[in-house]
Amino acid sequence: MSERTLIVVKPDGVQRGLAGEIISRFERKGFKLAGSKFMRVSEELARKHYQVHEGKYFYDRLVRYICSGPVLAMVWEAEGIIAMSRKMMGATFGYDAEPGTIRGDYSCSKGNNLVHGSDSVESAEFEIGLWFDEGELVSWEPANEHWLR
Ligand code: TYD
Repeated sequence: MSERTLIVVKPDGVQRGLAGEIISRFERKGFKLAGSKFMRVSEELARKHYQVHEGKYFYDRLVRYICSGPVLAMVWEAEGIIAMSRKMMGATFGYDAEPGTIRGDYSCSKGNNLVHGSDSVESAEFEIGLWFDEGELVSWEPANEHWLR
C-alpha cells in the first residue's frame, strides 16, 4: 500500500535557495509527487499544524518562524515514505543531523532546520488534510515503474 506524507520546505529553505535541492533528493529517491503549492502560512494553519507542541517554550517561536516567509508545501507518495523521508531529512536539529541527510548537509541550526516531514501515518493524514484539499492532489503512475522498484 502506497503511503503519503506532507513535506514542507520551510522559510529558511526557500530563502536559501534549497527548495530545488530538496525536491531533487526526493525525486531521485523515486518518490512520486502528488501535489505542491508555494504559499504563505497563516497563523491559524501554523497553530493547528504544530498543535502537539502547544504549551512548550518554543511553540510561539515555531509559529512565527513558519509564518515568516513563503514555504513550499508538498505531498509525496511511496511505499514506506514516512520512515524513508524522515531518514533523508535527518535528526531534528541541524547540528545533530548526520552528513548525507538534508539537515545534516545544509543546517547547523536548532530551529531553522529547512524542512518538515510528517512523523507517522496518523500525523501525515492529519497534516495532509490540513494543508491540502483533496482536489489539489493527483494520482499518477510512473511510465517506467521498474525504475522505482
Ligand atoms: P519536532 O516535531 O519534534 O521535530 P521534527 O521537525 O524533526 O519532526 O519539532 C518541530 C519543530 O520544532 C522542529 O523542526 C524544530 C522545533 N523545535 C525547537 O525549536 N526546539 C525544540 O526543543 C524542539 C523539540 C523542536
